[in-house]
Amino acid sequence: MRWSRYLIPTTKEVPKDAVVASHQLMLRAGLIRQLAAGIYSYLPLGYRALRKVERIVREEMDRAGAIELHMPVMHPIELWQQTGRTQAMGDVLLKLRPVKDGDESDWRAQTVLGPTHEEPVTEIARAYLNSYKLLPVNLYQIQVKFRGEARPKSGVLRTREFLMKDAYSFDRDKAGLDASYQKMYDAYCRIFSRCGLPYIVCEAESGPIGGDASHEFMVLTDAGEDFVAVSENGDYAANTERATCAPLPQDESLMQEMKEVHTPGQRTIEEVCAFLKTKPAQMIKTLVYAETSKSQNVEKSKSEAPGVFVVLVRGDHEVNENKLNRVAGTRLELAPPETIRKLTGAEVGFAGPHTLGKSVVAHTLIVDQAVAVMRNAATGANKTDYHVTGINPGRDFPLTGDHVTVADVRTVIDGDLSPTGSGSPIRIKKAIEIGHVFKLGTKYSDAMKATFLDSDGKPKPLIMGCYGIGLNRIMAAAIEAHHDETGIIWPTSIAPFAVLIVALDPREKDVMDTAEKIYNELTAAGIDVLFDDRDERAGFKFKDADLIGIPVRITVGRKALAEGVVELKERAKGEVEKVGPEEVVSRAVALILGTMSK
Ligand SMILES: Nc1ncnc2c1ncn2[C@@H]1O[C@H](COP(=O)(O)OP(=O)(O)O)[C@@H](O)[C@H]1O
Ligand SMILES: [Mg+2]
Repeated sequence: MRWSRYLIPTTKEVPKDAVVASHQLMLRAGLIRQLAAGIYSYLPLGYRALRKVERIVREEMDRAGAIELHMPVMHPIELWQQTGRTQAMGDVLLKLRPVKDGDESDWRAQTVLGPTHEEPVTEIARAYLNSYKLLPVNLYQIQVKFRGEARPKSGVLRTREFLMKDAYSFDRDKAGLDASYQKMYDAYCRIFSRCGLPYIVCEAESGPIGGDASHEFMVLTDAGEDFVAVSENGDYAANTERATCAPLPQDESLMQEMKEVHTPGQRTIEEVCAFLKTKPAQMIKTLVYAETSKSQNVEKSKSEAPGVFVVLVRGDHEVNENKLNRVAGTRLELAPPETIRKLTGAEVGFAGPHTLGKSVVAHTLIVDQAVAVMRNAATGANKTDYHVTGINPGRDFPLTGDHVTVADVRTVIDGDLSPTGSGSPIRIKKAIEIGHVFKLGTKYSDAMKATFLDSDGKPKPLIMGCYGIGLNRIMAAAIEAHHDETGIIWPTSIAPFAVLIVALDPREKDVMDTAEKIYNELTAAGIDVLFDDRDERAGFKFKDADLIGIPVRITVGRKALAEGVVELKERAKGEVEKVGPEEVVSRAVALILGTMSK
């Protein structure tokens, strides 16, 4: 490809709204162009890289025995109603608009744009996978997805339209699902290694997709939006949405008397701490939750449990609502002020467990494990403008009994210890989620009645797994992981071109002849070559070369040619090597093969 005949709109400007490095560099290197918020065009150079990612993903999915198909973008909303996900997905699920506002009979109003494809693929499975003899099957596609992301940001890391490889496995039994899941897990490891990504695998929350086991593949970088808890010795990694830690030890201090203290107007943890001269870790946050009104999505609701939940966490800890919902067995949300006032007899900000805990009949008490081991804590007094100090769990409020649960319901923090028992401290790091695998079980096959006849002649629901990779994110994450202050440093496997030939004096016949010859030979050897034949200054061309980050650069210039050499340089390394024009092709090919296998 000749640069002068191609479209690579590089720019020096750093766009104002581009904060993370990959976003800035993708715009500056002319890989993408924003059409609207969260909606991007892939310009020729960017599209080449995306296609290389796609090729690696396809090769590894095929190698793992998955079968490619292609499903539509537009889905009848009815399918999504069958699985209850019009609710669970909320505004993320995009609906077409009827021609006349409010005309729900218009087919457009009955149609959604697929944010993921569990529903249509289960519809196919329901139709065809009706005997155990056809199982296991893993169906995949590489296709565009639409999501009404509220805050699309960081360039192509989070967009409203993106390319996903999504695969869905169908098995007879749990053991089959475990095997299918493992195959995808292994394929993902190969894909990300081949794309040159430094990734880790984390235990993950399954969210509205559902199911019981799930892992995320993460690239650790400050550009990420996810937080992961990683132990220093590497024996534990989990998304903080789900992470646990070793239980904290019992505080053995002598118990003091409980005292009521006048704390006029002091409501927040910070205010009360300053007032009482204590630390947040010595306080108990008493939070009141209520079952959500829209709890349709909850699989099993403890119907006998009262609808109000008093939840205790340490002052420096946060409630993890995923964990809390699991412990509560239903979906909770913070209760409105009226509920709190009615329950505590005080204004919001003064709730405490010592009286609420004594009469646990009208509500459930959930005590975080880290609170249960505290001594002499401070908390609200259930009396406006009063707090109590010297509160002792077990003495002043119950840790056992009906409607009392001690459990891990908080978010892990930096410095907690690994739950493996190794004693290794946990660090909280930011990460980009590049892939996600889920064991779904029968969530979708039950809802959509997708059954097969087993060898015993009985109909059973298909056991499903689903596996997603964001292709655009791989590209951005690779740039996030591999760049310097001058530009991108592409991993060879997904670089738009493997070699860049820079002709320094394009008006010189010798220079152009030599450059053309190298270009033709490399192309004949099956290498993707970009030839910078533009009539521009050397400095300008080198800056662009560093910016677009092609792994191997061959520079042909008048001065070097006079000495009988051309220059060879790897983008990832500093040194320039002088090589005879006749050996440069084999040297470049060797370099490319060498970096590919990494
Ligand atoms: N808005 C988005 N923009 C770009 N890629 C996305 C987006 N949402 C998801 N992906 C990619 O698709 C993969 C599978 O998505 P999924 O796990 O269903 O999404 P989420 O974790 O956002 O619920 C993710 O691991 C990620 O690589
Ligand atoms: Mg995910």
